[in-house]
Amino acid sequence: MNAKTAVITGAGQGTGRAIALRFARAGIHCLLVGRTESKLKGVMEEIAALGGAASVYALDVTDDAAVADFGGALGEQTIDMLVNCAGDWLIALMENTNNEQLDHILRVNLRAPYILTRTLLPNLRRSDNASIINIGSLVTAISAPTVSAYTAAKVGLKGMTASLAAELKPERIRVVMISPGPADTPMRAAASPDIDKSVLVKPETIADMVFTVASLPRGITTSDFVLYSMAWE
Ligand SMILES: NC(=O)c1ccc[n+]([C@@H]2O[C@H](COP(=O)([O-])OP(=O)(O)OC[C@H]3O[C@@H](n4cnc5c(N)ncnc54)[C@H](OP(=O)(O)O)[C@@H]3O)[C@@H](O)[C@H]2O)c1
Repeated sequence: MNAKTAVITGAGQGTGRAIALRFARAGIHCLLVGRTESKLKGVMEEIAALGGAASVYALDVTDDAAVADFGGALGEQTIDMLVNCAGDWLIALMENTNNEQLDHILRVNLRAPYILTRTLLPNLRRSDNASIINIGSLVTAISAPTVSAYTAAKVGLKGMTASLAAELKPERIRVVMISPGPADTPMRAAASPDIDKSVLVKPETIADMVFTVASLPRGITTSDFVLYSMAWE
């Protein structure tokens, strides 16, 4: 892989952390974006222990001004990969949700990837083999109750991914969504503390798939795909 720099959101824990470590092991400089600076610094130290390089950008991806400042801080730096991984979910019957919860879920899972991607497009255009990879969810393929807001956001992200992929195809910038099933991360542990972990996808497996897609040769891309444990019913 010739790529040199990756921006990964939600890099402080879970899937985003695993993606950052996978990239770092391949010698890619990781720009770690997330809400909690201490978590990002912990991942930066893990990367340093591997002999890799990373930088920390603590920001809330739903904060438009912070995202604009981040873009400004990068200036004309080339970005080879953007992984929109930061996400949040809400498990509740629709009738038990409020407007603020709906807005939050749409902002973090859909609006934020849109705005960050738009902000970093000039940087991605400087790469000779750029990838934009959005982390979706199995809910885009298999419908489930109590996640209507989250599903709306992730299905919206799927549509955004497909349209942008068509838009950037002439420039050979690949845009792909990878949609994991239930994964062994802090998000899942909080939502389903008693779950049998054998039915979960390891974040390292998701990270391997992200790395594989980002390693495709220039001009080659793939369709969106799901990634889930066959033990999941
Ligand atoms: N876990 C699953 O079962 C599962 C299944 C399918 C898809 N996914 C998707 O996979 C992605 C990663 O999830 P995960 O399981 O790794 O979750 P996680 O363990 O909760 O990690 C999410 C990370 O995103 C960060 N984040 C959340 N909101 C943010 C914001 N507004 N601004 C900046 N950073 C923010 C969090 O930062 P802080 O730690 O600082 O809060 C956290 O580090 C998400 O898009 C999720 O929807 C997860």
